[in-house]
Amino acid sequence: MKDLPQLVAELVEATKQHEQYRGKECINMIASEGIKSPAVCEMLNLSHDLAARYAEGENDTVGHVKKRYYQGQKFMSQIEDYATDIVKSLFGATWADVRLVSGTHANLATFKGLSLAAKNNKMVVTPLSCGAHISHDYTGLAGNILGLDNINHVYNIDEFNIDAEKSAYVIRAAKPGIVTFGGSLFLFPHPIAELREVCDEVGAYVAYDASHVLGLIAGGQFQDPLREGADFITSSTHKTFPGPQGGVIMGNPNSPALEKAVKKIQFAIFPLSASSTHLGRLPALGVAALEMKLFGKDLAAQIVRNAQVAGQYLYENGVKVLAEKKGFTRSHQIAVDVRGFGGGKRVAQDLEDANIIVNKNLLPYDDQSGKDDPSGLRIGFQDVTRHGFHEGDIKHLCDLMLDVIKAKRKPAEVKVDVLALTKEFSTVKYGFQTVAEAVKYAKAA
Ligand SMILES: Cc1ncc(COP(=O)(O)O)c(C=O)c1O
Repeated sequence: MKDLPQLVAELVEATKQHEQYRGKECINMIASEGIKSPAVCEMLNLSHDLAARYAEGENDTVGHVKKRYYQGQKFMSQIEDYATDIVKSLFGATWADVRLVSGTHANLATFKGLSLAAKNNKMVVTPLSCGAHISHDYTGLAGNILGLDNINHVYNIDEFNIDAEKSAYVIRAAKPGIVTFGGSLFLFPHPIAELREVCDEVGAYVAYDASHVLGLIAGGQFQDPLREGADFITSSTHKTFPGPQGGVIMGNPNSPALEKAVKKIQFAIFPLSASSTHLGRLPALGVAALEMKLFGKDLAAQIVRNAQVAGQYLYENGVKVLAEKKGFTRSHQIAVDVRGFGGGKRVAQDLEDANIIVNKNLLPYDDQSGKDDPSGLRIGFQDVTRHGFHEGDIKHLCDLMLDVIKAKRKPAEVKVDVLALTKEFSTVKYGFQTVAEAVKYAKAA
């Protein structure tokens, strides 16, 4: 092994190289990542003391700080309350918790809290290969850590969605404590409204994992889970929602059963699963929320339009984009079957060699054992949209992707054009350039 100083020098160098490579020279189309505005980055830079502090304790049923076990909290408690209220205001929730450090953490606390509140360890989830996140699954957090029994929703591969009618039978028969919606491969809104009644019949809580689509929801696109019947939303704050890395849970607890659930979720956050709550991200979360309030509608609409245009264009040019008869997608992602072009592994690598970063992905009809070389790609359009790509630019980008997918040009040649594109679209739109700009807007509003 190299000695420690040398390792540090190389660590710093690798970091610089990474920032240049992924931040400036690649086109990012990983659907689970987001891009922060200069103002959100500046706010993170202004919050270093906060990022070193602890705020262990309890919150009340509107999500505000109730009790803290450390001294020196007077501004920190305000900061947490403001961030909580900002999230509540943006999403029309009466309760939120911003202490979660990630989407997985939000799921952990919510699934644990709801299983305690329901006194029931059964959870109905989307099958992993049909888009659920590993944290929903018996092979991941839900099963292996929380000990929940998973029962799968029935998934309709032709519709790329949960089959509401058949899942109603599953829910009636299984009588779970929790029914989940949402996922990682997530093209169409899930049927929450259709299944709410049967969840009530069996006394199940409804949790919706909005990690991928939170920015779309903020912009009024995709679906509105809290109004369609979800009891709780769990989410990351850094995918289509362009905030700092973190997590959030929210809901409208307007019944004794939901209030009980909130208390159990809070217990699952502290003391069960959080000590440091990474407070340094909260001011930046607030700035990102203001950006979404202001620009979210245009941003979300353009993201979905860009994904649909790409779906159509790639399809017309001989690539098997899934869900053609449904218009390909209503979210920020499309799913593409590239078996005819060498499979997900090869195509994702060739695109990477051209500085276009996508991820290979299992498709709903794939066998789980094929994770290393699945049939498909999942392609996300939130980053390119935030960089200002419109329909024409998307088609140009698709042409570059097609050159690689169909092996018409070598990836290294395409990379030259990709680098030119990254220079042309280097600024982040739909956001503030500075914190001062955000504050000026906020004070005038
Ligand atoms: C649906 C879903 N939930 C949760 C997560 C985990 O979020 P985090 O990475 O913030 O823990 C992901 C990650 O991509 C996801 O796709």
